[in-house]
Amino acid sequence: MTTKHYKRHLITSALPYANGPIHLGHLAGVYVPSDIYVRYLRRRKRDVISICGSDEHGVPITLKARNEGISPQAVVDRYHSINKKAFEDFGIAFDIYSRTSNKVHHETASEIFKTLYDKGVFIEKTSEQYYDEEAKTFLADRYITGACPHCGNPCAYGDQCEQCGTSLSPTDLINPVSTISGSKPVLRETKHWFLPLDQYEPWLKDWILEGHKEWKPNVYGQCKSWLDQGLHPRAVSRDLDWGIPVPVEGADGKVLYVWFDAPIGYISATKELTPDWELYWKDEGTRMLHFIGKDNIVFHCIVFPSILKAEGSYILPDNVPANEFLNLENDKISTSRNWAVWLHEYLEDFPGKQDVMRYVLCANAPENKDNDFTWKDFQNRNNNELVAILGNFVNRTLVLTHKYYDGKVPEITTLLDTDKQVLEEIGKIGERVEQSLELFRFREAIKTAMDLARLGNKYLADTEPWKAIKTDPERVKTILNVSLQITANLTLLLDPFLPFSMEKLRGFLGFEPTDWELIGKTELLKAGHEINKAALLYEKIEDDQIQAQIDKLMKSKEENLEEQEAAPLKQEIAFDDFSRIDLRSGCILEAEKVAKTKKLVKLKVDLGFEERTIVSGIAEYYDPATLPGKKVCVLANLAPRKLKGIESQGMILLSENPDGSLHFIEPAEDAVNGSEIN
Ligand code: MF3
Ligand code: ZN
Repeated sequence: MTTKHYKRHLITSALPYANGPIHLGHLAGVYVPSDIYVRYLRRRKRDVISICGSDEHGVPITLKARNEGISPQAVVDRYHSINKKAFEDFGIAFDIYSRTSNKVHHETASEIFKTLYDKGVFIEKTSEQYYDEEAKTFLADRYITGACPHCGNPCAYGDQCEQCGTSLSPTDLINPVSTISGSKPVLRETKHWFLPLDQYEPWLKDWILEGHKEWKPNVYGQCKSWLDQGLHPRAVSRDLDWGIPVPVEGADGKVLYVWFDAPIGYISATKELTPDWELYWKDEGTRMLHFIGKDNIVFHCIVFPSILKAEGSYILPDNVPANEFLNLENDKISTSRNWAVWLHEYLEDFPGKQDVMRYVLCANAPENKDNDFTWKDFQNRNNNELVAILGNFVNRTLVLTHKYYDGKVPEITTLLDTDKQVLEEIGKIGERVEQSLELFRFREAIKTAMDLARLGNKYLADTEPWKAIKTDPERVKTILNVSLQITANLTLLLDPFLPFSMEKLRGFLGFEPTDWELIGKTELLKAGHEINKAALLYEKIEDDQIQAQIDKLMKSKEENLEEQEAAPLKQEIAFDDFSRIDLRSGCILEAEKVAKTKKLVKLKVDLGFEERTIVSGIAEYYDPATLPGKKVCVLANLAPRKLKGIESQGMILLSENPDGSLHFIEPAEDAVNGSEIN
């Protein structure tokens, strides 16, 4: 059913940074789908290798090391083994879980850089960059903060102001500060190598926009928007002492940019895995797929393909099935706020329940939009779907077979039309699952696969073997034979999704094959075949277990709020200083969102004696439609400033909670517009 019959598959899954453990968001977006796809291909007897490993370079790893007073190597050693084990325990079946700090990788990445360098691909450019003299290091954009030149936000980052959404470069910041040492950075000259992405733009447009219209809309759309905006040369080196040294003369103290070397990690890992690595990377008979999260799209669809294209001897990905993000209990997953469910902790709390989580994450995968994981949904899907549909059908079939036939598969006596219809439906469901998998629609695939268990339950409910046994025992033989064939088919169909429980079920049935092509066959279990003792496939999850997980999350939320230090008091001022501030009561007359910004709202405010236009960064917390009529406190003698081309004549007072949420300071109900606030 694949559009083209490829000789072999090379499946890569994003290399997670080795600076923290794996959480559910990673699993749902990348590793569960890639694992299902790989298992499916293996069941179809395709030549497939599955590649992953730790991404061990980059600035955050050096900072973590600095904070903990250990070496970057010690940081990546720790998380490499934690994550490798977590994937194994979870049944994510990579053929290799490599790492980018190893020798093969350093050599491979250097070679590719060198090849491009020798071909004259790079542009060399010297520019001034901020340097932290205390920490003795050049500063990556987001390790510099300062005031935003557009909205005055005192905590804007070197790459972006989170308040007004403007993208910045570090030299735009007013009073820049290094977040590493707190010192004032100085500008220093430094030389870097740039990949001229602009030169690849026509080729990329043709390759992606014309050649890969079948890519998922979220992936295609993101590529299109990058390409429409126009590409620029991108630096592929950094001033840093952790990473792969730039392999050319005059590059002391410089390493390859982490996003240059990391995807090459897929190649190095393949080299480590097999001497035939070139077949997988350089033969047009290979179909390469990159499984990633949405924040990696530009690197896998634009930057890495340009590198491969420039090198000249490599194949390109045929598809990049990227997913959106998974939220947790209605909030963005965050490592620093400990708002996450860590894989290794889940397995401690729910031992042996890998498949339950695999099921929930697949059934609710953030395929086309961000999605939410909630523990309640986890419980419901386990109790109402795995237990009540799949487990229930299988269990009834096995128990009745033991009860009526001593565990021996009964023979078919007469097949009625209803039996035939049910048997025919098995193959049709199989085909539908296959079609969904081929299109990377894993939610649809698992839902359809569960339809086979639904069909089984309906069949039992319609035929009622427990009643028929008294009136028509011959009929029951057929019913249970059919039910057992459905069960054997379930093991085949669900194996890529639920490998642990399907292995168990194969054990109960004494049925070994896992070939995908057997799906739809209706004599998988021969009459007379003896099945084994069975147990429950899934257990109900009780409220208290779920509550314990929710409590654990709430505790980390509370701890976070407590930990957040109150903002330090500003320098003391004299009464005179205060009296120069003119605060007035006002009332919002009109409010509208400022186009193309995330946070800004344009307000018209009545101050009694005059009306003012004021731009305020509240769009994330207040719907403009609800604002007219609201009373507000206004800083009325602030010099006018331009925000996004609009002159803002004053400022609205807001209180800010530790989580960043904003709330109006409201004057009294009966305060007259324009009245002074002292
Ligand atoms: N470490 C990156 C991340 O977690 C992913 C790297 S994917 C690779 O976002 F292609 F670079 F390997
Ligand atoms: Zn700003």
